[in-house]
Amino acid sequence: MAEYKQVLVKDGKNPEGLISFPIFITQREIGALNSFIVRDWDTFIVAYPKSGTTWMEQIVHLLANNGEQGDKILSEAVPWLEGAATCYGGLDRLIRDSGDRRYFHSHLPMSLMPMFGKTKAKYIYVARNPKDNAVSYYYHARSKMGYEGNWSEFIKLYIEGKVGYGSIFDHVLDWWKVSQDSDNIMFVKYEDMTKNLAQVVTNVANFIDIPLTSDLLDTVIAASKFSAMAINPKANLDWVPQREGIPKHMRKGIIGDWKNHFSSEENLLFDAIYESRFLKFGLQFEF
Ligand code: A3P
Repeated sequence: MAEYKQVLVKDGKNPEGLISFPIFITQREIGALNSFIVRDWDTFIVAYPKSGTTWMEQIVHLLANNGEQGDKILSEAVPWLEGAATCYGGLDRLIRDSGDRRYFHSHLPMSLMPMFGKTKAKYIYVARNPKDNAVSYYYHARSKMGYEGNWSEFIKLYIEGKVGYGSIFDHVLDWWKVSQDSDNIMFVKYEDMTKNLAQVVTNVANFIDIPLTSDLLDTVIAASKFSAMAINPKANLDWVPQREGIPKHMRKGIIGDWKNHFSSEENLLFDAIYESRFLKFGLQFEF
């Protein structure tokens, strides 16, 4: 079976626990985050990969800049916390440590988030139904992570948490549970963004204290629609190198593509895990 190329990093929870990471984010990069100082006025967009991270980055970036895209690509405007060192020349290059509000994105599990719970920083956690997430992750693995296996091999690794950032079930559940009693975490579902973007944009603006006029709302919605982002070279992630012939980052952007990929056995197995890991804790998604 084709392996997913990964490194193992201490999971931050258990003394012996390890979590799978993309090969360019090693223990060194994660360790370096120990000296990262989080400010009360920081905002983090956090998501398990392929859950709509970039979409939320675009929304927050536009809200914070009065609807202007500006001249930076999103990866520089809303830096990738744990990836900036290896992919974008370091966080220091991307952020000014002034009194300005700072916006980051991250895929870190809660246990590895620097200074988590010790500041008034805000966290917007985006979660997506795990079936569509798995499909999106499969194409990502093939296009950007050098994965050579087929779908049925991938879904086994995915269920076992042997892909970058470990198990989606662990990741989402940790953030979900803590978000229930925290004013600093806003838990957003990709499916709600798809069905009522105006409401989500309004909630996000309120959460990060950005005054929202109807003009700004309209601008943000127009510029963060799938069709607009797909042709926007500052927001479509086309700058990330990828293998030819495999769909790009802005792939389909829909709910339900899993139906074109899951076999009935895979679906039954997945439903059982979904029930015991998410539904049992009151966490429900639209598929
Ligand atoms: P698909 O592969 O299902 O199309 P992330 O940014 O966390 O890597 O998530 C990528 C997924 O979000 C991709 O899903 C991508 O198409 C989808 N996405 C990005 N921007 C979107 C938008 N504006 N509307 C809907 N989906 C979007």
